[in-house]
Amino acid sequence: MRQIVTTTTGDIDVLKVQAKPDPTPGEGEVVIRVRAAGLNFADILSRQGLYPDSPPKPCVMGYEVSGVVEALGNGVNSSFEGKSVVALTRFGGQSEKIAVRATQMFEKPERLTFEQGAAIPVNYLTAYALLVVMGSLHAGESVLIHNAGGGVGLAALDIAKKIGAETYGTASPGKHKFLTDRGLDHPIDYRNQDWLAVLQQLTNGRGVDLAIDPIGGPHWKKSYAALRHTGRLGMFGMSTASASGLAGKLKMLKAVLQTPRFHPLAMLNKNRGVFGLNLGHLWHEPEKVAVWMRELLRGVDEEWVQPHVDQAFAFDDVGKAHRYMEERKNIGKVVLTP
Ligand SMILES: NC(=O)c1ccc[n+]([C@@H]2O[C@H](COP(=O)([O-])OP(=O)(O)OC[C@H]3O[C@@H](n4cnc5c(N)ncnc54)[C@H](OP(=O)(O)O)[C@@H]3O)[C@@H](O)[C@H]2O)c1
Repeated sequence: MRQIVTTTTGDIDVLKVQAKPDPTPGEGEVVIRVRAAGLNFADILSRQGLYPDSPPKPCVMGYEVSGVVEALGNGVNSSFEGKSVVALTRFGGQSEKIAVRATQMFEKPERLTFEQGAAIPVNYLTAYALLVVMGSLHAGESVLIHNAGGGVGLAALDIAKKIGAETYGTASPGKHKFLTDRGLDHPIDYRNQDWLAVLQQLTNGRGVDLAIDPIGGPHWKKSYAALRHTGRLGMFGMSTASASGLAGKLKMLKAVLQTPRFHPLAMLNKNRGVFGLNLGHLWHEPEKVAVWMRELLRGVDEEWVQPHVDQAFAFDDVGKAHRYMEERKNIGKVVLTP
C-alpha cells in the first residue's frame, strides 16, 4: 500500500508517497481501505516543524479517514465487514490502508460521499467541543468564529446555526459571499480592517458571548477583549506561527512570548471565562468523543451538519494540497484521495 510520508521538516518537497507493507488488524481493530483522508492545519504545522504533538519524522500524518472495512481483528463484530465508515486515526490516516480500533470508527451516513465523510471527525468534533461542550453556547447568544471559512470554522457555523446563535465570523474577504450564503450573519474582513473595532460597532459596544480563536499568541488577548459579560473565550490553535524554516520558528517564539496571562481576579470582576481545547489530547476519553460523534452523525441525517469539501487532491498532489491551505485558498475542507 502507499502512504504520504513527511520525511523531514521543510517545505512541500519533503512530502513523499512511499510504498509500505499492508497493515494487519490487531485485537479489537479493523483495517480500513481508505477512500479519503482529511488534511488538517496540524499537518502543515508538523511539516514546518511547529507542531508539538507531531510524531517523530519520518512520519505519516492523518487524524481521520473514511473508507471501507476490509479486515477484522479478534473481538470485532463481524457485521462491520464491508461497511462504509468514518474513523479517527491517531496519525497514519494518509495511507491507502490503516488499522484502527473499532471503537474509533462510526458508520458513514449514506447521504455523505467518502470525501464528505473524511471532513467530519476533526472539524466537527473540535467545533462541537468548543461551542457545545466547553463554550455552552445557547440560543439567542452570539458567537465570534475566527477563520470562519476554514474547516473548523464552517463546522462551527453549522453548529451555531443549529443552536440558534447570532454568528460573527472573521475571514479573508473573498470568502464572505460563500459564508453569508451559508448563513453567517456578520462576516468581518480581518485582513484589511481592525476586526475588534468592527465587532464592537456591530454589537453596540457589548461584544459576544463566545469567541473561538485558533490564531493564537497576542490574538487571544484581542479575542478576550471582544467578550461581553459572562462571555467565554475558547483557544485552540496557533495559526499565526505558520511559516516554513527559520521564519516559522521565530513567529512561534514571538507568539508564545506574546501569549496573554489571564488573571483570575480580572476574570471574576469582568464575568469572563477562558478555556483551551486540544482534540488530540482526548484519546483517553473515547466514550465522551463517541457521544459527540453520534450527535453529529445524527446532525447529518437531520441536515444541520453539512460538511463542505473544497477540493480533493490525489495523494501524489499532497504538496499542492498543503500549499493550497497555506495560501489560504480553501473554503472548508481539503481531503486527500489515494
Ligand atoms: N485544538 C484542536 O483540537 C484543533 C483541532 C482542529 C484544528 N485546530 C486548529 O484550528 C485552526 C484551523 O484548522 P483547520 O484544519 O480547520 O484549517 P483551516 O481553517 O481550513 O485553515 C486554513 C485557513 O486558516 C486561515 N489562516 C489564518 N491564519 C493563517 C496563516 N497564518 N496561514 C495560513 N492560513 C491562515 C485562512 O483563512 P482566511 O483566508 O480566512 O484567513 C486559511 O484559509 C488551526 O489553527 C488548527 O491548528 C485545532
